[in-house]
Amino acid sequence: MSTNEGAVSYMLGTGAVEQERLRAQADDLRPHSDDLFGRIGVKPGWSALDLGCGPSGSLGLLAELTGPDGRVLGLDANPDNARLAREFAAALGLANVRTDVADARSTRLPGSSFDLVYARLLLTNIPRPEQVVSEMVRLAKPRGCVAGEEPDPVFVCYPPNEAWARLVEVLQRTWRLEQADINMGRRLPGLYRAAGLEDVGFHVFADAHPAGHRRRMIVADLARSLRPKILDREVVTERELDELDRAARSHVADPGTVMLPVLYFTAWGRKPS
Ligand SMILES: C[S@@+](CC[C@H](N)C(=O)[O-])C[C@H]1O[C@@H](n2cnc3c(N)ncnc32)[C@H](O)[C@@H]1O
Repeated sequence: MSTNEGAVSYMLGTGAVEQERLRAQADDLRPHSDDLFGRIGVKPGWSALDLGCGPSGSLGLLAELTGPDGRVLGLDANPDNARLAREFAAALGLANVRTDVADARSTRLPGSSFDLVYARLLLTNIPRPEQVVSEMVRLAKPRGCVAGEEPDPVFVCYPPNEAWARLVEVLQRTWRLEQADINMGRRLPGLYRAAGLEDVGFHVFADAHPAGHRRRMIVADLARSLRPKILDREVVTERELDELDRAARSHVADPGTVMLPVLYFTAWGRKPS
């Protein structure tokens, strides 16, 4: 994401390809989010905020866990995503979910108003993640929870493949050029502590997806969403990008290829009373 002081521009784009990727990813990551909410002990009646919720985020899961007496708010800087999230909640009949457009760095919501303030895969796209974390802490009630989930790619691909490795370099370079940290996962507990949270904990998932699983293609899928940025910044030519995409996908589709692209961190902390 190129986020200047004021503007918000999500680096993975706002088109249909990225929105579909986010929807599928939300389904894939649901067990990890469920585990996180179980560790925190999210209860019926809680108020929960999903910051940078995308087209669905964890709104469905949070709506189930907080129940009819709870309330869930999903915020996204992208009006299309906020609208899609609203439609998602309406289609599932989630009466306790609202969505709105807001910048996670400065939501303008009243402070100390949520039992849980949560953000998934948001900080990895943001140049100064501590701004969002500080806003999260402000929004949590005293003794309320702040929690998040961020990736930390390890990019294991065996046997090695030149095109796949090159595509990884392209991703890493583009992330750096956008002043974002692709390895945000490992920083999450430290960011929480630095923001004054107590009882900080974290957990790591390492998913080596079996042949045919769509998450195996995450490197190529991210490069596809990042395509306009990669070409704008002239990281590679269009022709090279197409060739890398084709060759990397073919290698990953081979059932003999072992694929462990990303470690996935979940973390939580409590706002002091
Ligand atoms: C990788 S997506 C994750 C979506 C969702 N949290 C999920 O896990 O399914 C990041 C989302 O954050 C939103 N976003 C980026 N910068 C933001 C900001 N400063 N404030 C609010 N939302 C932002 C993007 O529009 C996008 O929907």
